[in-house]
Amino acid sequence: MLDIFYNQRSTRKFLSQKVEDQKVIKLLTAAMLAPSSKGLRPWEFIVVDNTELLEKLATSKPHGASLLRHAPLAIIITGDKSRSDVWVEDCSVASLYIQLEAEALGLGSCWVQINRRFYDDDITSNEYIHQQFNIPDRLEVLSVIGIGYKAVERPPMSDHEIIWNKVSVNKFGDVFDKQ
Ligand SMILES: Cc1cc2nc3c(=O)[nH]c(=O)nc-3n(C[C@H](O)[C@H](O)[C@H](O)COP(=O)(O)O)c2cc1C
Repeated sequence: MLDIFYNQRSTRKFLSQKVEDQKVIKLLTAAMLAPSSKGLRPWEFIVVDNTELLEKLATSKPHGASLLRHAPLAIIITGDKSRSDVWVEDCSVASLYIQLEAEALGLGSCWVQINRRFYDDDITSNEYIHQQFNIPDRLEVLSVIGIGYKAVERPPMSDHEIIWNKVSVNKFGDVFDKQ
């Protein structure tokens, strides 16, 4: 697993190659194997491979979503807020499971944050996506994961990026010695 964690870097440039149906099924299987609080599984997913709809997602906020324009695939992760008060956490875990499975399948991915983001001064990104995708009110959009074959292979994370002084042992501030 650590190899996957080191290699899983955000991919924002994709080849135009389609993601095979069997891989899409594996991505969704991973998402629905994700643990959730009280096992309530408040998430629901929308698989998007239509170019016009991907373009709508790419404009769901002014910055940080344009990568979806050229992604062959996106998965919208929504959570039922009437089902769970921790839908954000549950949907976050599912989002990351999709990203890690994507890496394991040789695909790249990028998380696009939707919750608490704005389409413009008046409309949230969540409201905008609801309108475009006919999503019922009980669901909130947490994220959109853009997925596809990587156009550029990025170097894995290095050990220099692991900040060991973020870890205490027993009491906060007591140094964790990893030797
Ligand atoms: C909660 C969360 C929200 C993120 N939102 C966005 C986003 O809206 N747009 C984007 O391009 N990347 C987004 N990212 C990706 C991060 O920018 C990226 O993971 C981080 O900078 C580390 O870089 P790396 O993945 O390239 O190693 C998000 C990641 C997380 C975990």
